Amino acid sequence: VTLIAAIVPAAGSGERLGAGVPKALALLAGEPILAHAIRALVAEPRVGLVVVAAPPGLESQMERTTRGAAGGVPVRVVTGGATRVASVSAALALIPTDVAVVLVHDAARALVPGQVVAAVADAVLAGAPAAVPAVAVVDTVRRVGADGSSETLDRATLRAVQTPQGFSADVLRAAHARTGSTATDDAGMVESLGHPVTLVEGDYRAFKVTTRMDLLLAEALLADSGEAS
Ligand code: C5P
Repeated sequence: VTLIAAIVPAAGSGERLGAGVPKALALLAGEPILAHAIRALVAEPRVGLVVVAAPPGLESQMERTTRGAAGGVPVRVVTGGATRVASVSAALALIPTDVAVVLVHDAARALVPGQVVAAVADAVLAGAPAAVPAVAVVDTVRRVGADGSSETLDRATLRAVQTPQGFSADVLRAAHARTGSTATDDAGMVESLGHPVTLVEGDYRAFKVTTRMDLLLAEALLADSGEAS
């Protein structure tokens, strides 16, 4: 019985990266971003299934990339949707009903450390309906109103949320069964059903590779850790 399944939404265009290919296939230290993300997930030994949502037309290419990085863990690939929520829903439909815990991890967070994946999994296996990694916010953040006025928020009360986000499979299914959600992540959807979201310690290395500058930072981190060899 697979204890934990991982869903990897990788169907975004990655326009902000400007690599000319969908972001998950952009190369980071000579390998697709997706391959790094898959390796980070399957380093968690309790992950027994990986389901990737791929852009239309790139399913078989992403399947090869994922299989190559998954170290023998079973892999499924689905066609993603127009939004991240739609991509996660499509992947969720392939998760067998006997899977207890689902992790949802952005392909773009390619360098998430193993202890973050483990901490999220541990929290959900211990009974949390939802658990997300979070880090302190380094910038001072202002809230801007419709009239252009703005106010400083108390930075000490803010956290930036990363992935993988972990869920009891039933709770995630219920959240995705509700249509019309405007949440920007799965935890937000689960929260709107009234479930608490547990925060675990995130890591700045789990940052989302979004821009060219992020790619340079990720290359530097890999070189520094010796993983790029
Ligand atoms: O665009 P953004 O970086 O916020 O996307 C977060 C993740 O969601 C990425 O891994 C991206 O590939 C994925 N995504 C998706 N389907 C979409 C849009 C984004 O799987 N339609």
